Amino acid sequence: MKKTTVFLLAGIVLFCMAVAAGLLLRTEQKDESNGTIKIGVAIYYGDDTFISNVTNSLSDIVAKYEQETGVRLYLGTADAQGKQETQNNQIERFLALDYDVLAVNLVDRTNAAYIIDKAMAKNVPVIFFNREPVQADLQKWDRLCYIGTDAVENGRLEGSIVVDAYHADRAALDKNGDGILQYIMIEGEIRHQDAVIRTEESIQAIRDAGIAVEKLDGGIADWERSQAAALAEQYFREYGDQIEVIICNNDDMALGVIDTIDRLGLDFRSVVGIDGTPQGLKAVQEGRMLGTVVIDYQAHAELIFQAAYALATGQRAEDVMQVGQDRSIRAPMYVVKSE
Ligand code: GAL
Repeated sequence: MKKTTVFLLAGIVLFCMAVAAGLLLRTEQKDESNGTIKIGVAIYYGDDTFISNVTNSLSDIVAKYEQETGVRLYLGTADAQGKQETQNNQIERFLALDYDVLAVNLVDRTNAAYIIDKAMAKNVPVIFFNREPVQADLQKWDRLCYIGTDAVENGRLEGSIVVDAYHADRAALDKNGDGILQYIMIEGEIRHQDAVIRTEESIQAIRDAGIAVEKLDGGIADWERSQAAALAEQYFREYGDQIEVIICNNDDMALGVIDTIDRLGLDFRSVVGIDGTPQGLKAVQEGRMLGTVVIDYQAHAELIFQAAYALATGQRAEDVMQVGQDRSIRAPMYVVKSE
């Protein structure tokens, strides 16, 4: 009697779970049968300005493509909030829900192998973007690629903005007239390839132009405006007028520096950044920054879409765009300087 009740209860519980799972799957896989292409986008941190510009632009492109062609597309996005473990779970979920292609902005660029193995097992192609996996991982499969900018060129172009400003008005930059540019460097995340390379190359470009430099100080602000503002406050209090230029690995951090300049009531305009975010470009136009290197986020999103569509429809990325030997596709960039 007791046994029968237990079996009955277990049966009811199992039945309910199956119905719930079925419903869940049906809502999330709603269009599988009518040929909808499902693109899963996994981002490292939704609050990052540049990344949210890219993903917003990607949704616009997808909506426009659907409207113009009638092809049915579904874009699912997942924000890992800076945790690789969360991202791994999100990827597994996309795969369980039969997404056709994944676009992954890794939290930890050394973690690609885990995601690649899972995706390969389900034959789902992966486009990594902005945070570049190591070559050994990218070369594992011809249905993988990377979309990002060339960090060396990012850095060299940023350095060229300082060089041009120096040649245009040397006294405005080399304020103490000692022939050496005293600078502060504000960097993105510690293990991010863009941060490391941009830091080195921006300074190298200035040196290569024959301008001597001296680093007063520098710190890591994780690409964030508020962290950069706090660092800048510390540097202005410590070095004051000795600071001649502040080089930032991205625009949000440059804007943080400008926030501090405003708060302290200083007249300091020798700040450079990278990204060309709308707010960054505004600061350049207003002459509050020497310039920025625009990484065209719309072009970035367009490339991600083209690669995703090709891979999801059985083509190779190289059939529709230029893919390097290193399986990378490089997004364009250009300089915008203040007048
Ligand atoms: C960089 C970009 C930064 C930040 C970072 C995140 O390429 O310049 O602003 O978005 O990627 O990985």
